[in-house]
Amino acid sequence: GDYTGALRPQIHFSPPTEFMNDPNGMFVDVNGTYHLYYQYNPTATVAGNQHWGHATSTDLYHWVNQKIAIFATEDSQIFSGSCVIDTNNTSGFFPGQDNGVVAIYTLNTATAQTQEIAWSVDGGYTFEKYEGNPVLALDPPSSQFRDPKVVRYDDHWVMVLAYAQEFAIGIFTSPDLKSWTHASNFSHHGLLGLQYECPNLVEMPVEGGDPMWVMAISINPGAPLGGSITEYFPGEFNGTHFTAIDAAARLTDFSKDNYAGQFFYGIPPTEEQIYIGWASNWEYSQAVPTGQLEGWRSSMTVPRRTHIANVTRVGINMMDMPYNIEAVLDAPLATNSSLGNGTVFVDYSSLNSGAIWFQVNVTGLPNNTATPSRQGTLNFTFSASSTRESVSGGFYFGGDNPFWMNRGDIYGFGNTDPFFTDKFSVGNPINANGTFTLDGIIDRSILEAFIDNGRSVGTMTFFPQGMLDTMVLRTNGLNDGVEVSVAVWGLKSAWA
Ligand code: FRU
Repeated sequence: GDYTGALRPQIHFSPPTEFMNDPNGMFVDVNGTYHLYYQYNPTATVAGNQHWGHATSTDLYHWVNQKIAIFATEDSQIFSGSCVIDTNNTSGFFPGQDNGVVAIYTLNTATAQTQEIAWSVDGGYTFEKYEGNPVLALDPPSSQFRDPKVVRYDDHWVMVLAYAQEFAIGIFTSPDLKSWTHASNFSHHGLLGLQYECPNLVEMPVEGGDPMWVMAISINPGAPLGGSITEYFPGEFNGTHFTAIDAAARLTDFSKDNYAGQFFYGIPPTEEQIYIGWASNWEYSQAVPTGQLEGWRSSMTVPRRTHIANVTRVGINMMDMPYNIEAVLDAPLATNSSLGNGTVFVDYSSLNSGAIWFQVNVTGLPNNTATPSRQGTLNFTFSASSTRESVSGGFYFGGDNPFWMNRGDIYGFGNTDPFFTDKFSVGNPINANGTFTLDGIIDRSILEAFIDNGRSVGTMTFFPQGMLDTMVLRTNGLNDGVEVSVAVWGLKSAWA
């Protein structure tokens, strides 16, 4: 792959060439190597001929592209799914081995979707399809039954998968990954969209409490902002049944480019879990200009570490922050620990990666929504000096004003594609203790904003005609006693 293109993210994973969608099979092996598989069409920049592409990394930023792991055939495609490590050889595929890997995926044909497995004795690089496939099929056959995600629970395996157009997540159990028994359904919960896809079940730490289970469901089409989005439900899981704590649909993202994400298999529930999503949307993923211009389409989000917290005024909520960004950290470009009402200006045209991490911390804000609305503003703009395009974001401090982001000042694709929504916002971004935090990552054609320590995340792609090279962050109208600190770092290309 050629990763030098002006739109190619430098700290995010994107495929060597052609079309990528969902992350698949994510697991971490005993040596600490992370495996990422992905929905991959190696023959076109649109979806179709779906294989499982594969890449590995020890830090989740520096990826090594591996050979395709699981191949489509002439009349069937390998759709989304997951991997587990069969430490105790429950499957019988791995005599004398404790690092056998089993992939569980959907086989898609013209008439049906069935669940198959494939096994790997070399730690996940090459796979053999099981001769007893399929391991799970519906009778009569269904073409809307897909995306198995398997986890370990005590003495058995648990699979969640989507009866896509029945708005149900089936929960199945197995002793050996080969025979599966239906245990329960989790259905008609949250936003239905027009299909349920790519369920996940994961247990993660809770601030000040015991670990909690989370069910995540991706919906497409029919997301509130159009197309694709992922929702999640904190709850309880007893090995066969999942019960959500309430009926609320919590979204993983307030923007439009975070879909079909997965959590890595093999991370203990007492540690923060690690999530990667597909940073695109089916409304425009097959039309974005990277296809014509650079021969590839779609990147993943940055890896995110996640846990649950009970946030004042928000309730039980998943917190997502960039995982281990230190792995790609370059020199600081600007720091100011007492900006007050002022401006931070950074010309980063000499930064080869074109990738930046910026942090803003504001304290001393009124923390209740009853206070009058505008008490100052914060705005940031990343612009291209060659074309005057820009991506921006900001916040009118106070009251219940939202934090917003805007990709409408990028020319070309954004102005012509009717689904490439311009603006996104999230309400109530001030913490109850009167602080506002923003962690931003911008990487050539993607911006990820983490608000209030990861309480809300916005993932927004954009495709400028000139490279962004100038950052301006400005505050004004802030009251006395409001403190602003800003830090901006360059990020090192993980692909150079
Ligand atoms: C979600 C999805 C999955 C399916 C895969 C096919 O984006 O539609 O439901 O398995 O993509 O590529």
